[in-house]
Amino acid sequence: MELLPLELEQFAVNFSTTPDPLRQEVEAYTQKNHAEPHMLSGPVQGKLLEMISHMIRPRRILEIGTFTGYSGLSLAEGLTNDGELHTIEFRAETAAIADRFFRKSTCFSKIKLHVGNALDIIPSLNETWDLVFIDADKPGYMDYFKLVLPSVRKNGFILADNIFFHGQVFDENPKGKSAKAIKAFNDFVHQREDIDKLVLTIRDGLYLLRKL
Ligand SMILES: C[S@@+](CC[C@H](N)C(=O)[O-])C[C@H]1O[C@@H](n2cnc3c(N)ncnc32)[C@H](O)[C@@H]1O
Repeated sequence: MELLPLELEQFAVNFSTTPDPLRQEVEAYTQKNHAEPHMLSGPVQGKLLEMISHMIRPRRILEIGTFTGYSGLSLAEGLTNDGELHTIEFRAETAAIADRFFRKSTCFSKIKLHVGNALDIIPSLNETWDLVFIDADKPGYMDYFKLVLPSVRKNGFILADNIFFHGQVFDENPKGKSAKAIKAFNDFVHQREDIDKLVLTIRDGLYLLRKL
C-alpha cells in the first residue's frame, strides 16, 4: 500500500537537503545490487535521523539492523567528538557492504559494526544509550525493545521503524507474521506509562519514544 501520495513524497525529497555523495552512492549501489532495496531508509528518513542526531548530540547510539549502512551514516553525523555508533547486522555479506561504505565516511572511527544476531550482541555491549534505532526483523522488535530499555538513559530516545508495516497494522487482525508482530509491538508501547510517545507519519511510520 502506498501510504503517502507520490507528489508529497517527491516534494519532501525535493525540498530537503540533497544527501551527501557517500549516501547517494550507498543508495545507488543498493538499488542496483540488492534484492530488497526498499529496506534502505532513503533521503528523507535519512535526513530526519541525521537531524535528530544533531539535535540530541548523542555520545552512544545503538542501531539494530545496519543493512547497507545508509541509516548508520545518517545517525553518526550528530555524534559528539568522543561519540560512538554501534550498529548490528545479522547477514555477513550485507555487513561487508556496509563496512566498505563506512570506511569512506569521515565518521568511520566512530562507527562500530557488529556482525551477528542482535539478541546475542546487545547484552554484550556495556553502554548507556542516548539513542537507539530499531530497524531489524519485525518479529524481534518487542525483544529488542525490552532488551535495550534498561540501558537507555533517562530521557534517552528510541526510534522504531516501519510501525505502519505498509498499512497492514491498520487492520484489526493483520495476516502476516511481521504485521502481527508490529501491531503487538505498537499496542505494547502504547500502553506503557513510562514512555513518552510520538508517531511520525513519515515513510512507513516511525515511533519516536522517550524513556521517562
Ligand atoms: C530494514 S533493514 C535495515 C535498514 C537500514 N537501517 C537502513 O535504513 O538503511 C533490516 C536489516 O536487519 C538485519 N537483521 C534482521 N534480523 C537481525 C537480527 N536478529 N540481528 C541483526 N540484524 C538483523 C537484516 O539482515 C537487514 O539487513
